Amino acid sequence: MILRVTKYGEPILREVGATVTEFNAELAQLANDMVATMYDAEGIGLAAQQVGKALQLCVVDVRPPEGSEISFNYNYDARQPPLDLFMPLVICNPKISIIDEQQDVYEEGCLSFPGVNGKVNRPIGVRCQFQDVQGNPHTLEADGLLGRCILHEVDHLNGELFIDRMDKRDLKKNEAKIKRLKRESRDFLKQRG
Ligand code: NI
Repeated sequence: MILRVTKYGEPILREVGATVTEFNAELAQLANDMVATMYDAEGIGLAAQQVGKALQLCVVDVRPPEGSEISFNYNYDARQPPLDLFMPLVICNPKISIIDEQQDVYEEGCLSFPGVNGKVNRPIGVRCQFQDVQGNPHTLEADGLLGRCILHEVDHLNGELFIDRMDKRDLKKNEAKIKRLKRESRDFLKQRG
């Protein structure tokens, strides 16, 4: 099922997600729906807050289009399996450590901010310890697009948004769009009652 994606201005996006404790059929269904919603919106990551749930749960799929090369390095449970074997990734209860502090800048977008793009600085290398949808523990190390996507999604799980980290000049350029989103969300919430 395709879920509605929450927009900037909806308070859920600022909520810290609760730890996932029940690895049951309901969680599997939510994760499936989040993956379907991410594909439908043509995104590469989606956090639970973006479908209206404050949970430590996000999904990621950064597989390049068929025939394109993978532009990042990764290590999944100390191996390099093909991406198809572990993507779409369902990440529960992630714990992040930075393994390469060097910063890289890249233009990011976010499905909760349609039309807003801007440069965001992030560390290059990340280690993410998490549980899959069945509760099994995994460790994923990644740089490049995958590392960045994980950091962006894990920020969501902590109520943090890419505009908090955006280059100040780019933020200024997007100011009007961001204000409009906030206004539209306020109207939406009022209407819904
Ligand atoms: Ni986002």
